[in-house]
Amino acid sequence: MLKVVKIGLLGLGTVGGGTVNVLERNSQEISRRCGYQIVVSKACARDMSRARICSTDSLQLTSNPDDIINDPEIQIVVELMGGEEPAKSLILAALANGKHVITANKALIATHGNELFAAAASNKVILAYESAIAGGIPIVKALREGLSANKIEWLAGIINGTGNFILTEMRDKGSAFEDVLKQAQQLGYAEADPTFDVEGIDAAHKLCILASLAFGMPLNFERVYTEGISKVTPLDLTYAEELGYRIKHLGVARKTDDGVEMRVHPTLVPKKRLLANVDGVMNAVLVKGNAVGATMYYGPGAGADATASAVVADIVDICRQLEISSDQYLAPLGFLSEQLKDLPNVSIEQVKTAFYLRLSVLDKPGVMAAITAILANNGISIEAALQKEIEQHGANTQVILLTGSVVEQLLVSALAEIESLDSTTGPAVRIRVESLQ
Ligand code: NDP
Ligand code: HSE
Repeated sequence: MLKVVKIGLLGLGTVGGGTVNVLERNSQEISRRCGYQIVVSKACARDMSRARICSTDSLQLTSNPDDIINDPEIQIVVELMGGEEPAKSLILAALANGKHVITANKALIATHGNELFAAAASNKVILAYESAIAGGIPIVKALREGLSANKIEWLAGIINGTGNFILTEMRDKGSAFEDVLKQAQQLGYAEADPTFDVEGIDAAHKLCILASLAFGMPLNFERVYTEGISKVTPLDLTYAEELGYRIKHLGVARKTDDGVEMRVHPTLVPKKRLLANVDGVMNAVLVKGNAVGATMYYGPGAGADATASAVVADIVDICRQLEISSDQYLAPLGFLSEQLKDLPNVSIEQVKTAFYLRLSVLDKPGVMAAITAILANNGISIEAALQKEIEQHGANTQVILLTGSVVEQLLVSALAEIESLDSTTGPAVRIRVESLQ
């Protein structure tokens, strides 16, 4: 007879329901792997009458989270409610009660992870979070274990499924932003507050965690530069294609001699790169290690079963460690806690990238010469150019340029000069370009 490990779920929505389903569907295979029979004994939700995506026949449903965190028979508490409170207090209480905790809550790990990991260590229990980043992709395991021989130089990823789904549907079907967002919500991909997805906050939470895993530093969410996809227009998606690029919402973390860059923003990626071809709800993280070179991890970034796959993998991992001494637990960020080192922040103004520029100008002689002169005077090279007449009768045109690599503050000051020309008729659009090499 296998020993039973009882699980309590805080939250029985998309991911909670998916977790119950995966545990039920694959129970034998999971037991063969971890040596225990996993039983979800209780689950907590707000609305007792709501229809669930899983069966609730074999579990006790409660609206009181204390029924779970104070149940002496529950060894593992899985937090799948989302949000800051009461999730944070409940996790801390569960840890204090000696329970191992699993969470998919990247917002909480990114903003309070340092405190939560310290609480787990002082209570000699595990706090696991594989499902918090990139849905079903085992990227925490890859960085923490599979790549532990490497110094990580940089990583770049599509780490928000909703955002990637929106950009893909806009590009392929010409769908309207709002319509695709509604679809993503219906499919269970979006956050409770979808501005987290479209304004890049969710991706920034994940990037912050990835950067700490990669470079061995404490979590520093406030340092992540964040831009969302809400200002990406169908016009720019089309022009990018014409230039041989795709616009993707990337999270980039890079270690340089000056410190660490952490940034999330729409990015032109050459079409021939694998990352440019990651579409829909799929996510991918490209990691450059100094021993292995570039490796890429691809899979569904959101959704019930995909995310449950990562939650259940954490359950299996914890079961495998139930009978070892707590001083043998893997450090949550892969580096020994006392070895975590803060690194200087490279601000976005100091970051060097190439740029896509879309300039609205009068269609008259000398305009292009004036623009190129300003760029040249600032030491900015032009790698490609397109000119588009978009207003049928007027004298307006759009000039699209790809620049060479330039420090951002230099580009910003050159653009201010261009915008002040009499021949410039509107604000410039600028999107960073990454070659990912
Ligand atoms: P849902 O909104 O689908 O589910 C949240 C669940 O928590 C619901 O069952 C809800 O109850 C319950 N809940 C919320 N607040 C309380 C409370 N105060 N007391 C009791 N129960 C509460 O969210 P998801 O499953 O989509 O997301 C859960 C977590 O997983 C979030 O942190 C999210 O960021 C993360 N995540 C989500 C992914 C996805 O694809 N959806 C992927 C990766 C991570 P009720 O059902 O009654 O409303
Ligand atoms: N809202 C998130 C996304 C869920 O769309 O990626 C997965 O973390």
